[in-house]
Amino acid sequence: MQRHLLSISDLSSEEILKILYKALDLKEELKFEARLNYLLGKSCALIFEKPSLRTRVTFELAITQLGGVPIYLTQSDIGLGKREAISDIARNLSRWVNGIIARTYAHKTLLELAQYSTISVINALSDLEHPCQALADFLTIYEKRGKLEGTKLAWVGDGNNVCHSLMLGAALLGMTMKIATPKGYEPNPSILTKAQEYAIRNNAKLIITNDPKEAVKDSEFIYTDTWISMGQEAEVDIRRQIFRPFQVNKELLSYAPHNYYIMHCLPAHRGEEITDEVLDGPHSIVLDQAENRLHVQRAVLFLLLTGRL
Ligand code: CP
Ligand code: NVA
Repeated sequence: MQRHLLSISDLSSEEILKILYKALDLKEELKFEARLNYLLGKSCALIFEKPSLRTRVTFELAITQLGGVPIYLTQSDIGLGKREAISDIARNLSRWVNGIIARTYAHKTLLELAQYSTISVINALSDLEHPCQALADFLTIYEKRGKLEGTKLAWVGDGNNVCHSLMLGAALLGMTMKIATPKGYEPNPSILTKAQEYAIRNNAKLIITNDPKEAVKDSEFIYTDTWISMGQEAEVDIRRQIFRPFQVNKELLSYAPHNYYIMHCLPAHRGEEITDEVLDGPHSIVLDQAENRLHVQRAVLFLLLTGRL
């Protein structure tokens, strides 16, 4: 049975840690070698329906640095579900390449790609989840604190795809996560229910609130993301208004503990969800997160494509 990474919950707690440790090993190995041969003879198709800087660059580099070949395909190249049925694209790609890395609007598109593929499908962001981002974020937290279990993470903003993957992952890893969103913008209820079940099993804590001050109080890591995710452009005016009290700024951070870290998956919308002084300030670790996308995705590709996960 082919393994896919569509949700971070496709991984067990142990498998998440295995990916993080492998990421650290490969980071060390690649300090001494320009390129490794672990994926020699293998290739991956990157299907992107939405724009990307970090995800595209880090996946293309990760594959190349491990000896494989990336093939980048946009929606205008292949017309996923328009020029050709998703199932047919999945079946064709399965005859040529060893993995599909896909950034889609609907999560359902990923599920369909996986259903008809005989190769691994990796979620490079959908409307529901962004598991590779969350893995990079957990690696970043681990590097800063030396552990994940018991660490405290606050989410301030929209209960979106990045929030979902972090919440599921935090619950699997025994972390405490406080999520502050405006009313009506809480995380997806069925993903929350699933995360709460994991939390009970792993001694994690998930707290949902509508008060950003309550979320940042006692939290060592404070995370925000855009108020308007890709695909929600029509809601820009109403969202800017509703999310205004959730801006991560100096005033909000006066409620945080002394040694907090600021996290953001990027791209940031300066002056909206986060101010320049916070994003560029001494507590910000957003570029460490961005760097870790590369390290963690090398590990995901190595483990998935060589059947070691
Ligand atoms: N964080 C992230 O996924 O960035 P991109 O949209 O630039 O890939
Ligand atoms: N929530 C954002 C993340 C971008 C990396 C979006 O989906 O647009």
